[in-house]
Amino acid sequence: MAKKSNPEMDMSRIPCHIGIIMDGNGRWAKKRFLPRTAGHTQGASVFKSIARYCNKIGVKYLTVYAFSTENWKRPQDEVDAIMNLLRRYLKDSTNFKSENIKLKFVGDLEVLPQDIRDLIDNAEHESENATGLVCNLAVNYGGRDEVVHAVRKLAKKVKDGELDADDISEQMISDNCYTNYMPDPDLIIRPSGEFRLSNFLLWQSAYSEFWFSNVLWPDFKPKHLDEAIIAYQQRDRRFGGV
Ligand code: FPP
Repeated sequence: MAKKSNPEMDMSRIPCHIGIIMDGNGRWAKKRFLPRTAGHTQGASVFKSIARYCNKIGVKYLTVYAFSTENWKRPQDEVDAIMNLLRRYLKDSTNFKSENIKLKFVGDLEVLPQDIRDLIDNAEHESENATGLVCNLAVNYGGRDEVVHAVRKLAKKVKDGELDADDISEQMISDNCYTNYMPDPDLIIRPSGEFRLSNFLLWQSAYSEFWFSNVLWPDFKPKHLDEAIIAYQQRDRRFGGV
C-alpha cells in the first residue's frame, strides 16, 4: 500500500478516478503583476507534481482539464502559450516515463496542430505499457461536444441498419465517449472559488462527488489533494439508492 501522507486519509479508500479543473492561473498571475501565461506555466508545473503525487498514493486515473473547446476564444498569445506548454511537456518524456505514468488524451484532437498530434501519438505509444497512474489530459475537450460525437457515431449505425434506435443504451453512449477506457470520476476538484463544471465530464459526472476550494491552481499542493480526498471519504455515496 502507498505511503500515508496525512494520518486522516484512509489509504484503502483512495478514489479510483479524480478529475481536476485546473482553474485560477490567470488570477494567480494577475496578483503578481505577471502576464496570464505565467500562471499557465506555473499551472503546468503544479499539474506535474500533482500527477506524480496521485501516482504515489495509488490513484488509478487522473483527468485534468487542460484546454476546453471554448478556450479557443482566448487571446491568440494565450492559446499559443498553452499549446507550447503542452509541446514542452510532451517532448520531455521523463515527465511520465520514469514515473511509470500512462499518458492519454481525451477530446477532439483532430483540430490540434499536426506536430502536437504527433507528439501525443508518440507519448501515448511510449507510455502504453506503464502500470501506474493513467493520466488523462483533456485537450480541446467539451462534455457536450463529446456527447454530440458519441450520438453521431450511434446515429450512423442506425442509418446503416446496424443498430435499432430503441436499443441505444447509456452504456453505448459511455462506450462512444472519449473516456471509454476508464471508470466515471469518483471525485471532481475545482479550485479557485468557482462552483461550475464548465463543460467538464458532463456525462461521466452523474454520480461524482465534488470538492471546491479557494486555492488558485498554481498554489495547489498535495496537502490540498489530501483535504479533498479526506472530504470525499466522509461522503455517503448512494448512487440514487438509500
Ligand atoms: C484555467 O485558468 C486554466 C486553463 C484554461 C488552462 C489550464 C492549462 C494549464 C494548467 C497548462 C496545460 C499544460 C499542461 C502541460 C498540462 P484561467 O486561465 O481561466 O484562470 P482565471 O480564471 O484565474 O483567469
